[in-house]
Amino acid sequence: MRAWNFCAGPAAIPEEVLKEVQEELLEWNDAKSSVMEVSHRSDFFQEVASESKKDFIELLNIPENYDVLFLQGGATQQFAMIPLNFVKNGKANYLMTGTWSKKAIATASKYLEITIPISNEDNKFTSIPENFSEWSEFNLDADYSHYCANETIQGFSLRNFHKDYTHKLNMRTIPLLCDMSSSILCEPFEVADFDLIYAGAQKNIGPAGLTIIIIEKSLFSKINSNLPDIFNYEKHANANSMLNTPPTFAWYLSGKVFKWLKEKGGLTAMQKINEEKAKTLYQFIDQSSMYSNLVESNFRSIMNIPFLLKDPAFDGLFLENANKAGLLNLKGHRSVGGMRASIYNATPIEAVNDLIDFMDDFEKNNL
Ligand SMILES: Cc1ncc(COP(=O)(O)O)c(C=O)c1O
Repeated sequence: MRAWNFCAGPAAIPEEVLKEVQEELLEWNDAKSSVMEVSHRSDFFQEVASESKKDFIELLNIPENYDVLFLQGGATQQFAMIPLNFVKNGKANYLMTGTWSKKAIATASKYLEITIPISNEDNKFTSIPENFSEWSEFNLDADYSHYCANETIQGFSLRNFHKDYTHKLNMRTIPLLCDMSSSILCEPFEVADFDLIYAGAQKNIGPAGLTIIIIEKSLFSKINSNLPDIFNYEKHANANSMLNTPPTFAWYLSGKVFKWLKEKGGLTAMQKINEEKAKTLYQFIDQSSMYSNLVESNFRSIMNIPFLLKDPAFDGLFLENANKAGLLNLKGHRSVGGMRASIYNATPIEAVNDLIDFMDDFEKNNL
């Protein structure tokens, strides 16, 4: 049996998918060569590209007024592409809820004046007021509003903010843009609540190197025309994401992950499993005397679960023993310390149960 991989990203890929890729690696269907060795413009690859796009659209139930782009550059490139494309009034709203939204703000503030209606940096990104009257004002002149749906490092998640933005805040006249790098495909959501969504692939989608962007087509008319084509969303859309060579292998493999997700019952089925995994792990952490998670319960991520040991002197031993037990990559991000279990779609409930058994034994032996 393979070890369980709890890495935050690049993260676990479904074993069935890896095996299928292994079988096809030398000779891929009629191409008689590896998928890595064929032109992205060949009929062979064009079929992969259109089929995986179709499956992705189906999984997320993406309406027809949206396009889906398969690009390079990672989510970090999106931190820059967004302000470059949509700087008109020179203003934007950004929620600051963790390391990644903070980085997005740092990049955008080179180009735009940023309003931050809410930040939880002062309480170490663990909580925000749920009542919007306690937030500062959004800038109503802004070109867009941006947030990160799931802060991978802090395990802080805003699973319903899109609904509140539309219905409680009545803000939909200002486009809503979202970094979903570590939560896309973990549960269904209404794409129509957003104007642009982006995600680096290396968590729930597939291998690193691919970045997926879902963009509402009317945004194209707002793009700053003074941009090099390679940074322009509309140019990428017009070229079917093939303005230059796309990350073909990552695209092909992601297509297989989409098929795997469909076979598993799609995102409604994934949500059920993901919620069960997260609930089981949080319940164990909360009842233990050795481990703690500091994020307020309403904002806890179902994908990334950081936890601290009561005495950090045990961190090294915990990681060493976990590794020996086949539980990999549990070290928390250096800015937070402690541990982090990333339990994306490809991580089954058995992995979470094995982790809990290990943590329980470790607690009994060391407390
Ligand atoms: C939520 C989030 N946003 C952005 C990034 C940056 O992604 P990339 O390394 O693809 O640029 C990450 C990476 O882990 C992330 O988790």
